[in-house]
Amino acid sequence: MIIKQTEEFVLHELGEDATGHDWFHVDRVRRNALHICKEEKAGDPFIIEMAALLHDIPDEKLNESAEKGQQKLETFLESVSLTDSDKNHIVNIIESISYKGGRKTTLESIEAKIVQDADRLDAIGAIGIARAFAYGGKKGQPIYDPSITVRKEMSLEEYRKGKSTSIHHFYEKLLKLRDLLNTEAAKNMAASRHQMMVLFLEQFYQEWDGQGS
Ligand code: ADP
Ligand code: NI
Repeated sequence: MIIKQTEEFVLHELGEDATGHDWFHVDRVRRNALHICKEEKAGDPFIIEMAALLHDIPDEKLNESAEKGQQKLETFLESVSLTDSDKNHIVNIIESISYKGGRKTTLESIEAKIVQDADRLDAIGAIGIARAFAYGGKKGQPIYDPSITVRKEMSLEEYRKGKSTSIHHFYEKLLKLRDLLNTEAAKNMAASRHQMMVLFLEQFYQEWDGQGS
């Protein structure tokens, strides 16, 4: 019942988004998170499913401000019948898992680790490639520009606003994610996805240089 209400809320809130944070992304994260939960035999599946479903609701990119986003999440959680402890846990997970330019926070619960892994898995592989170019297109960012150098260290402000390309995003984030995963189950799922990106980049440069077969 609560899950159904949450699905409807999220579908309504994110349905139209075209930056890669759409309902299908949320649904994949939910399914991957529940899969990891089962494989690891760890974590509370209800908390995991709720946090996965709601994880993009307070995203500052999808709201007027981070505070407005946070408020939207809390208002929704007040409207369903959850214990305070479950509510706080869900809010904490969502707060703690965002990547935001590589910022490292220690995750408190296994549920947070699992939802973060599931979100990161959806940023890599074939789906991750598609999402990177969808996001880049929406932001008016070039596919690639060899004159732009890869940013190694960057503030959150630079990560969001600095000049970059979708190909650069692979080096600034996507190729790093495999080594940042928390659970063994997610690491196993990441192997072929990572390989897919490596192959994609190799072929991309071959074609860029006009030597495509
Ligand atoms: P998070 O919400 O975890 O902080 P982002 O919002 O930065 O992560 O990323 C959400 C999606 O958009 C991911 O699939 C990510 O790879 C993609 N994305 C984010 N920034 C860029 C960028 N500069 N170029 C291409 N894709 C991006
Ligand atoms: Ni997400």
